[in-house]
Amino acid sequence: MSDTTYPPSAEFASNAHVDAAKYKEMYAASINDPVAFWGEHGKRIDWIKPYTRVKDVNYDFGNVSIKWFEDGTLNVAANCIDRHLEARGDSTAIIWEPDNPEDAAQHITYRELYENTCRMANVLKDMGVGRGDRVVLYLPMIPEAAYAMLACARIGAIHSIVFAGFSPDALSARINGCQAKVVITADEAPRGGRKTALKSNTDAALLHCSDKVKCLVVKHTGGQTTWIEGRDHDYNALASEAATDCPPEEMNAEDPLFILYTSGSTGQPKGVVHTSGGYLVYAAMTQELVFDYHEGDVFWCTADVGWVTGHSYIVYGPLANGATTLMFEGVPTYPDASRFWQVCEKHKVNQFYTAPTAIRALMGQGTEYVSKCDLSSLKVLGTVGEPINPEAWNWYNDNVGQGRCPIVDTWWQTETGGHLLTPLPGAIPTKPGSATLPFFGIEPVVLEPESGKEITDTEASGVLALKDSWPGQMRTVWGDHERFEATYFQQYKGYYFSGDGCKRDADGYYWITGRVDDVINVSGHRMGTAEVESALVAHAKVAEAAVVGYPHNIKGQGIYAYVTLMNDVEPTEELRKELETWVRTEIGPIAKPDLIQWAPGLPKTRSGKIMRRILRKIAEDDYGALGDTSTLADPGVVDELIENRMNRG
Ligand code: WTA
Repeated sequence: MSDTTYPPSAEFASNAHVDAAKYKEMYAASINDPVAFWGEHGKRIDWIKPYTRVKDVNYDFGNVSIKWFEDGTLNVAANCIDRHLEARGDSTAIIWEPDNPEDAAQHITYRELYENTCRMANVLKDMGVGRGDRVVLYLPMIPEAAYAMLACARIGAIHSIVFAGFSPDALSARINGCQAKVVITADEAPRGGRKTALKSNTDAALLHCSDKVKCLVVKHTGGQTTWIEGRDHDYNALASEAATDCPPEEMNAEDPLFILYTSGSTGQPKGVVHTSGGYLVYAAMTQELVFDYHEGDVFWCTADVGWVTGHSYIVYGPLANGATTLMFEGVPTYPDASRFWQVCEKHKVNQFYTAPTAIRALMGQGTEYVSKCDLSSLKVLGTVGEPINPEAWNWYNDNVGQGRCPIVDTWWQTETGGHLLTPLPGAIPTKPGSATLPFFGIEPVVLEPESGKEITDTEASGVLALKDSWPGQMRTVWGDHERFEATYFQQYKGYYFSGDGCKRDADGYYWITGRVDDVINVSGHRMGTAEVESALVAHAKVAEAAVVGYPHNIKGQGIYAYVTLMNDVEPTEELRKELETWVRTEIGPIAKPDLIQWAPGLPKTRSGKIMRRILRKIAEDDYGALGDTSTLADPGVVDELIENRMNRG
């Protein structure tokens, strides 16, 4: 933990929405009287029927129920589009920057966003989609992804976005998981000069889905696709004939807005459910205050819309605020390592929000890629997804922010809908590597991992939990409320448990130390070790597998797999490659193991439980500190694993 602090400049603070004094005052108000606080701030969005009940929350295990603004009605798309038309109809809502810098960028005004969203909404309605129906999106980073999200919101359908890097198997599981009526895809997704065949992946996925699922295809690259009459629908043809008006449905605040699958400790990914009113209030308020967004600024979040960061900070938060949001189809290193900075220069980006893994990758390429670009438009920098190491923070601060731009290290989760721990750039001095202090209404606590007792000393180390609810919190797991309660409310009664470890320093600043469960964070992507294990054991030559994370210079964590082969199978380099490819096709490229160690045996307790603690230590190349191995059924396997470990210093 570094003790260097970086206070905002007096000039920045004086122009910011929130300065130090205002933060203190608003934070105290939000904790002392959450109903009054959120009752007031809920008004930042437009309600059709105003709410009278602000908060109705029960964290008691067995009866967990979370409701905000529950008697209010609204339409999320109307909040993100229609209400801006009068004042900002001709202002840019979305700047779209394509993968190839030689192709033209698009500037989509709020009026155009309105028309395109309505067209998409009408196409979906004609395909039989209505209130409460589920629609899966499997799309590149193109404006149609935003139109599709907002079109669903407009007609009251629930979207579930599947990241375009996921495999057909992952896609079919998510289509079936929510019994989607329609899947929206595109012919191909270009990224970094390569193309992913989304439509053919979708064809493969739909082989495992009900015949009733229809497919709406955006022609993006014009690449060849196969076509099934009756099932497949041509978006471009249908949209060009669709009406440019579509009345927004009046939705309840607690009607689901979207489902987003995320990885957990055990089992397959779960469908996180976010609802309409509270989510939008929270996404909008954090986007404005955490990035100190001002009218006319250009805001760029580099995430993919397939992740929650893209939901909240490319689409819903910025558009609810009438902002200009940049959507980038490409990758940071294509055509070369200056792409991010060239896009900042080209579109005069004011707030830039990315992941530490991208910063570390670019840092390794040298500073010339940054210094040759004009980054004078930048005002605030952000990071999200994983702890940022101080070296990367300093590089970002010196080279990208040129010492001028506050850095907001935002800690949050798919489950939380928006930022929970974060500096406000005009209010809170930052420390490299710390997510600093809570946002309004957020009451973090540090618990003793074993006893679950709240540590009241300022300096503390333990697991991070939240005492009370906030409007952006997830409401349930799709179709499995019991799993929701068991995952987040069972272990530490009366709290929402984050799954992260943390330290609190003498100034009350929070430092996230990483997951304390079997979730790993690879390049800012959440991955359940159980998912990778179940993919590996699905291979005919694999008897058993155990997967853990290990420190990786660029990715933060890498995937380390211990694999026990079937009796008669020879461990060969070829088989290693085969297993890597296997996991890529079962889940997607992000799940490919970085290291595979052949393990004739795995360390198990006498009751047969794999001792993952030991496997983690060996993967970390820290086997001197294995701790007590006396409960192992066969302590000899540990020596064998150490002997053949794959990660050597
Ligand atoms: C990790 C992404 C440290 C954390 C928005 C959390 C972070 C998980 C930070 C959620 C941060 C996210 N510092 N760790 N600023 N932000 N994390 O659901 O472990 O993809 O639990 O949401 O990422 O990942 P998810």
